[in-house]
Amino acid sequence: MIDKIEKLRRRVEEFRPKAAAEIEEFRIMILGKKGELNELMEQFRTVAPELKREVGQALNVVKNFAMERIDELKEAHGRPQEKAAADDLTRPGTADVLGSRHPIATVMNEMCAIFARMGYTVADGPEIEDDWHVFGALNFAPDHPARDMQDTFFIDKNSDEILLRTHTSSIQVRVMETQKPPIRVVCPGRVFRNEAISARSHCIFHQVEGLYVDEGVSFADLKQSILYFAKEFFGERATIRLRPSYFPFTEPSAEVDVSCQLCGGKGCNVCKHTGWLEIMGCGMVDPNVLEACGIDSKKYSGFAFGMGVERTTMLKYGIKDIRLFFENDVRFLRQFESAI
Ligand code: PHE
Repeated sequence: MIDKIEKLRRRVEEFRPKAAAEIEEFRIMILGKKGELNELMEQFRTVAPELKREVGQALNVVKNFAMERIDELKEAHGRPQEKAAADDLTRPGTADVLGSRHPIATVMNEMCAIFARMGYTVADGPEIEDDWHVFGALNFAPDHPARDMQDTFFIDKNSDEILLRTHTSSIQVRVMETQKPPIRVVCPGRVFRNEAISARSHCIFHQVEGLYVDEGVSFADLKQSILYFAKEFFGERATIRLRPSYFPFTEPSAEVDVSCQLCGGKGCNVCKHTGWLEIMGCGMVDPNVLEACGIDSKKYSGFAFGMGVERTTMLKYGIKDIRLFFENDVRFLRQFESAI
């Protein structure tokens, strides 16, 4: 009996199939219901009791060996079914998973596209700036609190000259310094403020700002342009209201609210029961700013506006936590696949 088992073991060991189909045949012959191993199991019943232990163990060992060996061979030859499937040219292909644009990029592009329809072009500028382009040219007094360490990230701790821009108005300064009116630009970009990170604010965020300088530009032009933007971006039913405000670089200045699209202006949690949502700051460019950039303020006037992209995106899509934009969790990002 032990002899037979050993012979079987050797046959399994020496089995060298030429094709995958042979392996299955071999398996049935050895391990199948009417296979050789079962035959040996039958014979096991007649083995003398004192030999049962030894023979039983040997049978188990050869059975495990045969199963493992056959599995290995099948792996090496590719499973016959899988091979057939791989050769099946009519089998449907596997689709590539496409990525999607980040919601901030989508909204920023949409904002720029709306202003492009009003004749604006897109201007770009550096994120690392000097004091002049972020503050000086924009009529910030030397001791203005926005220049403070609390708001601004400085590059060199020994100097307050080089810093990370706190708004993209710096791009507008660069445009006014290098181009002659008429000027009509939108300035999208990333900005940095030394603020604590919470659900509502972050130290890095994005802005889209805009500037229009020409002869005879008035506050009425500003209002009409922003109304057009609000209707295009939030929907035809959107209305706006302007509240007086203050910025060093505009005079007069205003804060723009848009009617809450969630409750239709009736008042809800999102608009804190006011019916209005604040979306941007704006105003007529201060003549000091025009002059600082080499533009004749007696001949030309202009308006400027600026808005936070994260804030506006949160309003548009009902997102409650600004930090989601920076975590890059695909479960969040996938929800914007169709928002292009
Ligand atoms: N630069 C301002 C800010 O960052 C926004 C603004 C731009 C306000 C243009 C008025 C005019 O908050």
